[in-house]
Parts: sequence; C-alpha cells; structure tokens
Amino acid sequence: MTQRILITEFMDEAAVAQLARDFEVHYDPTLVDRPAELLERAAGVAALIVRNRTQVRGELLAALGAAKVIGRLGVGLDNIDVAAAEGRGLRVIPATGANALAVAEYVIATAFLLRRGAFLSSTAVAAGQWPRAALSDGGELGGRTLGLIGFGSIGQLSARLARGLGLKVIAHDPAISDSAELWAQAGVAPRALDALLGEADIVSLHLPLLPSTRNLIDAARLAQFNPGAILINTARGGVVDEAALAEALKAGRLGGAALDVFGEEPLPAGSPLADAPNLILTPHIAGVTRESNTRVSALIADAVAAALQEASNVAA
Ligand SMILES: NC(=O)c1ccc[n+]([C@@H]2O[C@H](COP(=O)([O-])OP(=O)(O)OC[C@H]3O[C@@H](n4cnc5c(N)ncnc54)[C@H](O)[C@@H]3O)[C@@H](O)[C@H]2O)c1
Repeated sequence: MTQRILITEFMDEAAVAQLARDFEVHYDPTLVDRPAELLERAAGVAALIVRNRTQVRGELLAALGAAKVIGRLGVGLDNIDVAAAEGRGLRVIPATGANALAVAEYVIATAFLLRRGAFLSSTAVAAGQWPRAALSDGGELGGRTLGLIGFGSIGQLSARLARGLGLKVIAHDPAISDSAELWAQAGVAPRALDALLGEADIVSLHLPLLPSTRNLIDAARLAQFNPGAILINTARGGVVDEAALAEALKAGRLGGAALDVFGEEPLPAGSPLADAPNLILTPHIAGVTRESNTRVSALIADAVAAALQEASNVAA
C-alpha cells in the first residue's frame, strides 16, 4: 500500500510533485488553520511535513499514531515537541542550513538600513521635500563590530558576509569552546555574553528558543548594550522581552532594531512595539525567499522520502 504524506503549510510545488511520484500526498498549505481537519487527516499517515506554524505536540502527535517522520520546512524546532515525538519513534528532520543565506542577507540588509537611516526617504523626496540635513548623520557598516549570539549555520554565514564588508565579528555560543579551530577559520572572536553586549555596535540573534533562552535579552541585558547599538532578531520572539525593547527604543538608548519574529505571531494590536521609533518589523520572512523555499523544500522532500524508504527496509 502506498504510504501517505500530509503537508500542512506551503512547500515548493516541484518538491510536492516529486514526493507525489512515490507517495500518496495530501498538500494543503492552509490546513494549519483548520486544526480539527488536520487531526483527522493525520491519522494513518507515514510522514507529516510542516513549517513553523503547525504545533506538533499533544493531540496531533497522538493522532499521528504509527507515523515515522516529521519534516520541518525550516530550522527552529520550538513548534515540535521533539522529545515526545522521538519517544513515539518519530524522526524529526529540520532543513538545517537551507535557509541560512536568506537570513544572513536579511541581517546585513537591516543593519545597513538601520545604521544609515537614509534609505527610506522616497515619500519625502517625491513630495518635493529635501531632508538632506536630517539624513546626513547616517553611519557606515565598515569598521563596526557585529556581535552574534548563536554561532551555528546562520551565525557563521552572517559572519562571512559581514567580514566581506569590513566588519569586525565577535560571537557568543556556549556549545563552541574558546579553543575550537572554528573561530580562527571563521575570523571571528569568541566572547562571553556580557563582553559581547558591551562591545558590539550591532547585536544579531541566531540561537534557538529554549526554556534557558527565553527572555535572554531582557531589560537588564538591553542596559548593557552600547549606547546607539542596534538589535536584529531573526531567531525567535520569545528570546527578546518586547516591552523592554520598546522602552529602550523610545528612550533613545538603542539606535534601532529589526524584528522578524515575535512572542505572539501575528503581532497583536496594542503591542508596545507599535509606536517605537527606528524599528523595522517583518512578518517572519527572514528565512523565506524564492530560492530558499526551493532549497528547503527539496532538502525535506529528499530526506523524508529517504527516511520512509529506510523505515520500510527495516520493517521488510
Ligand atoms: N526568521 C526566520 O525566518 C528563521 C529562519 C531560520 C532559522 N530561524 C531561527 O534561527 C535560529 C538559528 O538557526 P541556525 O540554522 O543557525 O541553527 P543552528 O542549530 O545551526 O545554530 C544555533 C546555535 O545556537 C547556539 N546556542 C544555543 N543556546 C545558546 C545560547 N544560550 N547562547 C548562544 N548560543 C546558543 C547553538 O549552540 C548553535 O550553535 C533557529 O533556532 C531558528 O529559531 C529563523
């Protein structure tokens, strides 16, 4: 009997078609928004493929019954109860590295925008205003220090791009010892978290959301930033205390921030971030480009197909 695969969020059509050659695929990018139907359709599938919005835990895990694999079209696994899934014999496969370039380019782009402050004047210039004096105080990136918190795939690629632009790069990652060769190979200096916060002109977050990293960047840590420094968060919303960040921006202690991820998504009305200055907000798209969607989807299609094949071989 053909094995069934359920895909609950958007995936590149070519990768879906590739899976459909060997499996019975139900692909519905809006299924995530209809939890009752999702639960029904989960029964009896061999594999589930999700992005970051499908919460794979509790009832849904139970409904997956004898499924073998969960493919994650992206990297962070905070929407999946990995321990419970693995306890049920499910393999959880993330697309590590496949969207790193999209995120790293977002980091560089927002760092340019926030440091320079001069690229968003089209409306004023088109209206005949000439805000040249007001915009003449922008900063350059070359020679500045980028501090990366988390030095995995995305942190390392961001470092490479930044070094190419003449930034100095420092990073904090408790999983990589200060004597690891990686630091010298990458041209990046390891730092304790406190030292990094006091030294960086731009702080960019590239660590997972875990109980230990929740609210890592809180009011006390924001107070350790250099005056006028910039924060970029493409990791997970829960890592930053949004109310404390809004306050630091309103008080002018930070030079700006770019946030792609939020404690609650979509960002609820009335968020303290709504009227904070020098703030770029994007709807969790740092890792999503046309190219990365193709790479992420192809990687997960191949990995899920291989894992199902392997599981069938073991069973045979
Ligand atoms: N916004 C987006 O579209 C988007 C896209 C991809 C990934 N992400 C997020 O970015 C995060 C990083 O992705 P990645 O591919 O680089 O993951 P990765 O697993 O390659 O690297 C994460 C690194 O964080 C480190 N880390 C863990 N705890 C830490 C701590 N307390 N302080 C500092 N470092 C710590 C780990 O040791 C690891 O090296 C993901 O967990 C995900 O949440 C967001």
